[in-house]
Amino acid sequence: MSVVAVIGGQWGDEGKGRVVDLLAQQAQMVIRYSGGNNAGHTVINDRGTFKLHLVPAGIFNPETINIIGTGVVVDPAALLEEMTMLAEADVTFDNLYISDRAHVIMPYHREQDRIQEALRGDGRLGTTGRGVGPAYSDKMERIGIRVGDLLHSETLLQCFARALDVKHSLLQSYGGTIEPLPALHQQFIDYGQQLRSHIRPTHPLVQQALRRGDRILLEGAQASLLDVDWGTYPYVTSSAPGAAGACQGAGIGPREVSHVLGVFKAYTTRVGGGPFPTELTDETGDLLRERGHEYGTTTGRPRRCGWFDAVAARYVCELNSCDYIVWTKLDILDELPTLRICTGYQINGAKIDYMPSSVAELSQVQPIYEELPGWQTSTDNARTFDDLPPNAKRYLERLEELLGVPTALISVGPSREASIERVPIAALFA
Ligand code: IMP
Repeated sequence: MSVVAVIGGQWGDEGKGRVVDLLAQQAQMVIRYSGGNNAGHTVINDRGTFKLHLVPAGIFNPETINIIGTGVVVDPAALLEEMTMLAEADVTFDNLYISDRAHVIMPYHREQDRIQEALRGDGRLGTTGRGVGPAYSDKMERIGIRVGDLLHSETLLQCFARALDVKHSLLQSYGGTIEPLPALHQQFIDYGQQLRSHIRPTHPLVQQALRRGDRILLEGAQASLLDVDWGTYPYVTSSAPGAAGACQGAGIGPREVSHVLGVFKAYTTRVGGGPFPTELTDETGDLLRERGHEYGTTTGRPRRCGWFDAVAARYVCELNSCDYIVWTKLDILDELPTLRICTGYQINGAKIDYMPSSVAELSQVQPIYEELPGWQTSTDNARTFDDLPPNAKRYLERLEELLGVPTALISVGPSREASIERVPIAALFA
């Protein structure tokens, strides 16, 4: 068994792309398993800086097979644009496959996303506007269109016939429009032709890799607190970004997964609406945003910033059976004189020992903080745990203790090299 799942532990933007890029160098297969181009994975390597939305981060290694898995929703126009951007840096795609079972984001999904957000007014979710939610709801409604359908003109016509009746009446009631069927059909047949060599049943590829004992990386998008079942509903995305979703979206049984890595920023951020108990709306929050360049990769929106929330993080570790933690952006905390960790929640002075399921309740909780001294020294050049200042070690050790999970990797800067391996990467695949 050499399957490692990399999942987001907070509300997204933890730096999963960089972690996957690092691990992908030793992987023979990378499978992106959920979400769509609502994700934005920044990867900085010797070829440059890339913002990936759909293409798995293993694409930079021509020996690695990269799969856009069944659990993903694919906007073909966005994918082709991303491939063009990567091709300019001489990235090749002979090693990219798209599951024929993955669902397609249509222009009417983006339209629906936009209109529904506008109708929500102050209660808007702050979606990325990429049509991801409507595409997943059509999948569940069984009027979705799959990537494999783009290769068969007649089948695609039938799929549109099934979907468009429903979509027309829905969008018309909102004042939205859908392109005429012939144009839509032709456009998506064209996309199918452009992607033809990459579209295929991915199940055999994955099974062969498992049988060979290949090192397989399951690349998460979004994060557990945005999970449609376990996140801060309704302020969530429409998929299951955690370890269970990784198995489902990649088509791998849970017993095959050797390690689950939870990726956590050393503080917390959130983009979009929804409760955020440890949010900082003061100058410390501003400092984290500026030092951490906390602006959305996909939408450019400023991210909300706050202290590390160990209650939420522990909940996520439990939900996903995290074996190890990967800490990112530790260096962003370098200047702070003191740090706070949320170790408990209280409501009206009474401590609660669970993660509230209701947004109203979670919005009311007051965090119980523990204060630790900062280190006020640069960690940029640390390459071993012992290179870190004592207070930085103490901070991480306290977090490990609160989460009950050991550390595998720590990142102290954006480049591949700015990483500390507490557990050798090869051991994670063992
Ligand atoms: P949607 O996924 O576009 O429907 O957006 C639903 C919620 O998930 C919004 O709050 C988004 O800001 C958030 N979200 C979706 N994808 C990401 C991501 O990759 N990083 C951070 N937040 C995300």
